[in-house]
Amino acid sequence: MSALPGKILLGVNVDHVATIRQARGTDYPDPVEMALQAEDAGADGITMHLREDRRHVVESDIERMARATRTKLNMEMAATDEMRDIALRVAPADVCVVPERRAELTTEGGLDAVAQRGRLAELIAALGGAGIRVALFIDPQPAQIEASARAGAPAVELHTGGYAGARGGAQRAELEAVADGARRAHECGLLVNAGHGLHYENTAAIAALPQINELNIGHAIVARAIAVGFPRAVGEMKKLMAAARATR
Ligand code: PXP
Repeated sequence: MSALPGKILLGVNVDHVATIRQARGTDYPDPVEMALQAEDAGADGITMHLREDRRHVVESDIERMARATRTKLNMEMAATDEMRDIALRVAPADVCVVPERRAELTTEGGLDAVAQRGRLAELIAALGGAGIRVALFIDPQPAQIEASARAGAPAVELHTGGYAGARGGAQRAELEAVADGARRAHECGLLVNAGHGLHYENTAAIAALPQINELNIGHAIVARAIAVGFPRAVGEMKKLMAAARATR
């Protein structure tokens, strides 16, 4: 089994900067400009989801980000031929494969890596051949984790939406599921990332899990940045993640 990651990384998802731009069809605010501010404030990577409906991030954002990043770009995408070809052209460091339904407000559930293993294996091989590290976004269930490993994924991103949306005892049970999932994924030799629905109050418990390499956080950071600016919003999240990891 590989060593546990020492420090925990923060990938800042800037999709919702683009949401504000697209709401008015302007050319501001610029998600790339905000991403560079996030990097200056300590972000370890930038995440952008190029949705099939282009509701926030558009192709030129991904292209500009890939050129401008001083950390690394993680492109979230559906498992389609169109997205595979864009990823091969743009060559982000990382791709996170997500399920996508057109009417959803945000990514609602994890991929079904069990049912789609063959198709995902082909995509992982095609992107991996171009030096792109692929993570599958899955619910923290043993069958999904094991299917991801069998499909050849080097990494998974465990869906924390169930944990983020639950309260009380149900939330403790969801946290246990993420903790068990992180252990199982690490045992399977996978790099373990996590994200979705994380904010300033609920992130510490996830950041404390020793197998987690990176958290991808978007909505809460963009929302906080409206009040205090991007550098402080990112700095506060980095600090609370590092503190949670240090006291585990
Ligand atoms: N990880 C994945 C795979 C996602 O699809 C999203 C949402 O785009 C996030 C993380 C970030 O979620 P949030 O915006 O709730 O922080």
